[in-house]
Amino acid sequence: MVLIDGKKVSADLQEELSATIRHDRSITGKLPGLTIILVGQDPSSQVYVRNKAKRCKEIGMNSTVIELPDETTLEEILERIALLNADPETHGILVQQPLPPHIDEMSVTLAIDPEKDVDGFHPENIGKMVLGHFESCHISCTAYGILELLGRYGIETSGRHCVIVGRSNIVGKPMANLMLQKLDSANCTVTVCHSASKEIATLTRLADILIVAVGKPGFITAGMVKPGAVVIDVGNNRIGDASTKSGFRYVGDVDFDGVSTVASAITPVPGGVGPMTIAMLMKNTVNSFHRSNGL
Ligand code: GUN
Repeated sequence: MVLIDGKKVSADLQEELSATIRHDRSITGKLPGLTIILVGQDPSSQVYVRNKAKRCKEIGMNSTVIELPDETTLEEILERIALLNADPETHGILVQQPLPPHIDEMSVTLAIDPEKDVDGFHPENIGKMVLGHFESCHISCTAYGILELLGRYGIETSGRHCVIVGRSNIVGKPMANLMLQKLDSANCTVTVCHSASKEIATLTRLADILIVAVGKPGFITAGMVKPGAVVIDVGNNRIGDASTKSGFRYVGDVDFDGVSTVASAITPVPGGVGPMTIAMLMKNTVNSFHRSNGL
């Protein structure tokens, strides 16, 4: 069984990006810049945003976090976005989700210049990705990171059956569309299961590549996996654990101990998909920098 080490792959990618940034700076005198907007006090979002900003600094990129209170209005957020859209030193804009319930997420997504939408959430980027115009779009980071992991581990995907569990806009839908593209590490037959699907275990057992993003700890058990399948766990669920100093720990959507006895390869949680999402966010920001500087 192969443990797919996202921490290692993302560190390699980080090295590559850092070298690119140094090289670009020697030519242009400029650095890529990412601005993250965080609205409210959600503890998981605060951790994610802090990690994203820290990792950007580590590779020599500019990063700014704008923290706004819970009661911020949609108009105030849109004003901030308009300023960032016009700022030549900002190449990536990310508004952390979920947003407070009074903010319409779609209005926020639509306000971001698609060139700076390094999350790949804007309909223009989603549409270009679905149509296969990869050179002019940003691909959503988690799906892109999973493709990169499959590629770097030399996992054969072409013509194989990829089953995705979950249909969120952030992971399931972009993932399904990416896996059916005629691309290395994709070109699959794709099935998507969701909360209304019947006989989920029958469907997941058909998977050569099983990708799970449902937000339910240990949802996929060994009996739901075909022996030899590759299992990608996107879950990152915080559960109580009195034996840890913090009183909690993070687990995936896959019962790792059981499933690792039948899978041919599996991502751990933490240290699998999570670090890759941040690495691809930085890669999208560097790509945006390149496009805006004609590199
Ligand atoms: N919330 C959880 N994951 C993400 C992500 O990839 N981007 C944004 N903007 N919010 C998130």
